[in-house]
Amino acid sequence: MSGNPKRVTILGSTGSIGRSTVDLLQREPERFAVEALTAQSNVTLLAEQARLLRARLAVIGDEGRLPELRERLAGSGVEVAAGRAALIEAAGRPVDWVMAAIVGAAGLEPTLAAVRRGAVVALANKETLVCAGDLVMAEAARCGATILPVDSEHNAIFQVFDFKAPESVDRIILTASGGPFRTLNLAEMREATPAQAIAHPIWSMGAKISVDSATLMNKGLELIEASFLFPVPEDRIEVLIHPQSVVHSLVAYLDGSVLAQLGTPDMRTPIAFTLAWPSRMAAPAARLDLAAVAKLTFEVPDSARFPALNLARRALQSGGGAPTILNAANEVAVEAFLSGRIGFLDIARIVEQTLARVNRRPLANLEEVRDADGAARRHAAHVIDPLSDDRAVPVHIATRRQRGDA
Ligand SMILES: NC(=O)c1ccc[n+]([C@@H]2O[C@H](COP(=O)([O-])OP(=O)(O)OC[C@H]3O[C@@H](n4cnc5c(N)ncnc54)[C@H](OP(=O)(O)O)[C@@H]3O)[C@@H](O)[C@H]2O)c1
Repeated sequence: MSGNPKRVTILGSTGSIGRSTVDLLQREPERFAVEALTAQSNVTLLAEQARLLRARLAVIGDEGRLPELRERLAGSGVEVAAGRAALIEAAGRPVDWVMAAIVGAAGLEPTLAAVRRGAVVALANKETLVCAGDLVMAEAARCGATILPVDSEHNAIFQVFDFKAPESVDRIILTASGGPFRTLNLAEMREATPAQAIAHPIWSMGAKISVDSATLMNKGLELIEASFLFPVPEDRIEVLIHPQSVVHSLVAYLDGSVLAQLGTPDMRTPIAFTLAWPSRMAAPAARLDLAAVAKLTFEVPDSARFPALNLARRALQSGGGAPTILNAANEVAVEAFLSGRIGFLDIARIVEQTLARVNRRPLANLEEVRDADGAARRHAAHVIDPLSDDRAVPVHIATRRQRGDA
C-alpha cells in the first residue's frame, strides 16, 4: 500500500477479533488511520486502544460508563460517545474499511450501517448474516459495499473460489476443529461445564463462539453464512471435522480438483487478508510447517452427539425467518448455559423447541427481523424458565424497540 493511510473503524475492538485487529494496525501505524473504536462495557481496554491507535472516536455501548471513558481519555483529543445510537452512528462514518466484530445479533444494525455507507466490511460477526442474510446482502449490492469474510473458513473459500466461473464449483467443504468435546460421549457432554466448553483446544476466542464451537452450532451458523456469501446451494455445502485446523476449508471443482487454503490457526491471517485486500500484507502468525504437523485427519461430524449442526441445516432449508429464530434461541441458550442455568446438552434442545414453535414466515425488512428475533428470544427464555416473561429477556434489539429509538 502507498499514498494516504487507509481509514479504518473497528466495531467490537475489545473482543478477541477486535484485539487481533488492533495488533495488526499497531504494527504498521503509517498505513492505517483509525476513525472509530467501539466496545460494550470494557472501558479500560477501549481507552487504552484509542490512545495507542490515536483513534478519532471511542464509543462505549453501555451509557453508564461514559463518564469513566471521558475521564480515561481526557487530554488525548479522542472524541467520546456512548449508547446504541452512537455506536450505529460510528459504524456509518465514512471510512475505507470496517471490521464488524461485535458478537451476536447485537452486531446487525452497526454492520448494516457500515454496509449502507458502501465501505469494505470485514465481516467476523457471522450472526449478522444468519439473522438477516437476505437484507444485508441486498443492501451491500444496493450501496456498493464489499463484504469480505473474516471467519477463517469463509476467508479460505473466498481465497480459492472462482467467482468468475461459479458454475465450475461442485461443492464447498467447511472444516471444523470439532471443539473441546469432539471425543466425549453423551454422558460426559451432559456434565460439561462452561469452563470446559470455553477451553477450545486450538482457537482462543470469545465465550459465545467458544460454546458454539463446542456444540458445533458454530459450524451450523457458518453453513448459513456460507450460503449467503457464495453462490452454492445448501445441499452442496459440506462439513468435515479436521482437528488440526490447518486446512481452513476447501472448494471442489467439477473436474475433480480440490483447492484449499492452509495456515496455522491464527485469526490475524484472515484479518490481514481483509485489511490489505486486494493486496497482501505481512501478518505475524507462525509459519506453517507441514512436516512438523505430519498428519492431517478428517472425519464426518456425529449428528447424534452434535445435533446443532443439523438444526442449522434444517433452518437453512426452511428459509424465511428460521435462521433468525435459530440464532436468537441459540444466543439465549448459550447465555443460560454460561450462567449455569442449563446444561450443555440443553442448548440444542432449547433451539429445537424454539424453532418448532415460533412462526417461521419470510422476513421482508429489519422490523420483521427484529420481531422474529424478539419472539424467538422470549420463547427460548420461557423454555428455560417457564416463569420468565418479556422483562426477563436480555434482548438489546427488543429493548431498542421498547425505547422507540429504532
Ligand atoms: N474469536 C474468533 O476467533 C472468531 C473467529 C471467527 C468469527 N468470530 C466471530 O466474530 C465475532 C466476535 O467474536 P469474538 O470472539 O471477538 O467475541 P468477543 O471476544 O466476545 O468480543 C465481542 C466484542 O463485541 C462487543 N460487544 C459485546 N456485546 C455487545 C453489544 N450488545 N453491543 C455492542 N458491542 C458488543 C464486546 O465489547 P466488551 O469487550 O466491552 O464486552 C467486544 O468488543 C462473533 O460474531 C464471532 O462469531 C470470532
